[in-house]
Amino acid sequence: MQELVKEINKHLSCEFQAGHTYLAMSIWLREKDLAGFSSYMQTKSQEERGHADRLITYLVDCDEKVELPGLEAPQRSWESTQSLFDHVYEMEQSVTTSINRIYSIAEQKGERSATAMLDWFVAEQLQEEAEARFVRKRLRLAAGNSAALLLLDQQFLDGTALLAVKGQPKEKSI
Ligand SMILES: [Fe+2]
Ligand SMILES: [Fe+2]
Repeated sequence: MQELVKEINKHLSCEFQAGHTYLAMSIWLREKDLAGFSSYMQTKSQEERGHADRLITYLVDCDEKVELPGLEAPQRSWESTQSLFDHVYEMEQSVTTSINRIYSIAEQKGERSATAMLDWFVAEQLQEEAEARFVRKRLRLAAGNSAALLLLDQQFLDGTALLAVKGQPKEKSI
């Protein structure tokens, strides 16, 4: 169990750091007056905090120690909305890799409560990667066209931007 606890604690920084990066993205997008994208990123930032809370709750329920990580200052600007979403996609892929690693350790150790808890994260990462890939592709189709970018921004404001993304229905993070 101790190796698993260490890895879960290490993974906490992935979730907090992702939350911090999404907040920085939300600010940058707001500065560009892309209100829809910005509010999407703000929600994602809060969700990442919710993911960290899930892991913290698990550790506390198992009577194990939680070690909160320090945070690094996130990147603050991007070349374009397209490159920002490339960053989102890469970041989510690295979170998925980290979850998969922890999952393998939990399986090796026969820690069933951990694999049960991590099943939620596996489904969540599938959804997050699908969303990021979808938005990336849409932005590539928009190819820097301002009208297309503003339409997608409006769809985020209306809550319709991601309706076509397949995957699990989004549960509340906490
Ligand atoms: Fe997360
Ligand atoms: Fe995420």
